[in-house]
Amino acid sequence: GSDCEAMKHLVSASDLTRDEIAFLMELASRLKAHPEAYADRLEGRTLGLIFEKPSTRTWASFHAGMSELGGDSLYFGPQDIALGKREETRDVARVLSSYLAGFVLRTFAHRTITEFARYSRRPVINGLSDLSHPCQALTDLFTVREHWGAENLRKVKVAFVGDGNNVLHSLLLVFAKMGLAFSYATPKAHEPKASVVRKARELARRSKAKITASHTPREAVRGAQVVYTDVWVSMGEEKEGPVKKKAFRGFQVNRKLLRGAAREACVMHCLPAHRGEEISDEVMEGKHSLIFEQAANRLTVGKAILLYLMTSLG
Ligand code: CP
Ligand code: NVA
Repeated sequence: GSDCEAMKHLVSASDLTRDEIAFLMELASRLKAHPEAYADRLEGRTLGLIFEKPSTRTWASFHAGMSELGGDSLYFGPQDIALGKREETRDVARVLSSYLAGFVLRTFAHRTITEFARYSRRPVINGLSDLSHPCQALTDLFTVREHWGAENLRKVKVAFVGDGNNVLHSLLLVFAKMGLAFSYATPKAHEPKASVVRKARELARRSKAKITASHTPREAVRGAQVVYTDVWVSMGEEKEGPVKKKAFRGFQVNRKLLRGAAREACVMHCLPAHRGEEISDEVMEGKHSLIFEQAANRLTVGKAILLYLMTSLG
């Protein structure tokens, strides 16, 4: 693509319109079926991966994704740049965007990513912040679509059981925008942010998605085709871990809870998982688990995001 086009970032799922998300899904399907057709699209370009937190899927899939598209990537761990400590984020953004063709950032504070994006002359992708995880939610939509069929999305009910965290925030925005039924159950003290819920409800009014909130896992999963969970203690919250875990008693996704879901229900988890906490070992290894297909799809959807933001494809 030409470098003069209006630049797009993916800082929040709400940066994308419904049509753009639909386009990304189609592009990801084509990429998955014919990866060879895109093998040189990003030739000569290097993606910067700037991570303040550990990562397995996000780091590896964007690294591999860049090579599969003919480009390269460069990883910076927590000690390498020290955004905002060794140097101001806006200075790093201006300097690195004169060498590198795009960025994936994983940060503690969401505003580090928004600030970086404001000063970067190249596309910035949110690879997880304390507020959101849009690449994950887009992959999850892709996985649900692949499993249940794009034409059946409006018949699928997705239930999230767990913490009102970054992953839930992005799922709410993506599924509300795309018109799926979405219900979630969190403990009272761990609800998603009110501003995100408000935004999701507004999107749902337009798309006719149905969002329901409760504090009862059994209620959330009733009749659901997808039961989704994530860790109770996110990266950066380790100190609150012991206290937080107590609040989630009764929120484990296990066989008993799944009995109340639809008969053909699938289980999803963005990973990493803590077996015996938010999910039982049995369910993780069981035949209803879509978890490893979901993880595998991070590569395909990551590549679609790269192509969309870094070339004229979009
Ligand atoms: N799901 C996910 O983002 O995994 P990583 O933390 O390993 O990147
Ligand atoms: N909520 C988790 C997601 C990890 C991919 C965290 O932020 O640690």
